[in-house]
Amino acid sequence: MSDASFLSLDKLSLAYGKTIAVKELDLDIRKGELLALLGPSGCGKTTTMRAIAGLMTPVSGRITLDGADITRVPANRRNIGLVFQSYALFPHLTVFENVAFGLKLQGIGGDELTRRVDAGLKSVGLTAFSGRKTPDLSGGQQQRVALARSMVMQPKVLMLDEPLSNLDARLRLEMRTELQRMQKETGVTMIFVTHDQVEALALADRIVVMRDGAIEQIGTPEEIYNNPVSSFVADFVGFENLFAIRNGKLVAAGGIELDPAGPLPDAAGLAWRPRAIALGAGPFTGTVRGVSFAGGTREYLLESGFGTVKAEADVSVPGYPLNAEVAFDMPISAAAPLHRFG
Ligand SMILES: Nc1ncnc2c1ncn2[C@@H]1O[C@H](COP(=O)(O)OP(=O)(O)O)[C@@H](O)[C@H]1O
Ligand SMILES: [Mg+2]
Repeated sequence: MSDASFLSLDKLSLAYGKTIAVKELDLDIRKGELLALLGPSGCGKTTTMRAIAGLMTPVSGRITLDGADITRVPANRRNIGLVFQSYALFPHLTVFENVAFGLKLQGIGGDELTRRVDAGLKSVGLTAFSGRKTPDLSGGQQQRVALARSMVMQPKVLMLDEPLSNLDARLRLEMRTELQRMQKETGVTMIFVTHDQVEALALADRIVVMRDGAIEQIGTPEEIYNNPVSSFVADFVGFENLFAIRNGKLVAAGGIELDPAGPLPDAAGLAWRPRAIALGAGPFTGTVRGVSFAGGTREYLLESGFGTVKAEADVSVPGYPLNAEVAFDMPISAAAPLHRFG
């Protein structure tokens, strides 16, 4: 085992009855890494987590952790923590007792129990809430209790399945920062499941984009954000203008072909973020069908001869009113080339 493959999934296939949910997944996770699993609902994120945790037996393939094959090891002997979106705390127990629960099951008591629970509560900023019953806590605090409860077990891998999706936007941001800090401080290997690209980009060392039970792309946040390999990933990370390339032409979503503004790269398609569309001059024209103010920028919906184009421009430049005719360019140099389309 090397550090680069602390946790390895090797051709892992998972099914519910006859329904294949995950197909021959290969994935190597480094020790101490914060890995995000990103993908739309139903792509197999939770299923993959359940298999790693030992809550599901693979149809085929292998899971190794820290040099040992754990494919057939029971869940309670894997030393892997799993925190769900629903925190599943015991409402009749205090915060301290909730966090102590798993340790007590392992026969840990006395001073060691107190010391480890106190350290866990401190790491999530809940020391002052130790004696409270969990229903008296806010959503964010309950989330922290669930996190502390897993962390005190000193898992080899801590997995979090959409842990922030029940929280409001502000709390989500706060917890995100906190999770990242906690992970860096403890060095725990962490897999974070989300369907929110912003969350994945903000948190992760590496992102795994999943689609239909398979991996579509693995990369750093910068790689995923700047160099999506496919139209699927591009669409997921905010490239709102996607064009296939066929016979030297760009093909818009509706199937209409257009001549590109320059030579095309050797790719299956091109993708532009709204802010990569240059407004005010260029070979194309569009009618403004929507303008929305977004703080530092304005977002435009342009209706062109080949379909709707989404553009974004700084508010410091004069804006365009509804129904204005605007010339625009889609510079090839500002597009991300896609290796797969569709
Ligand atoms: N208990 C189940 N029984 C049958 N099919 C399931 C079950 N759980 C999930 N699936 C199916 O497996 C696929 C992957 O689901 P899941 O792993 O929950 O996706 P995600 O977590 O990415 O939203 C989906 O097609 C889903 O419908
Ligand atoms: Mg899920």
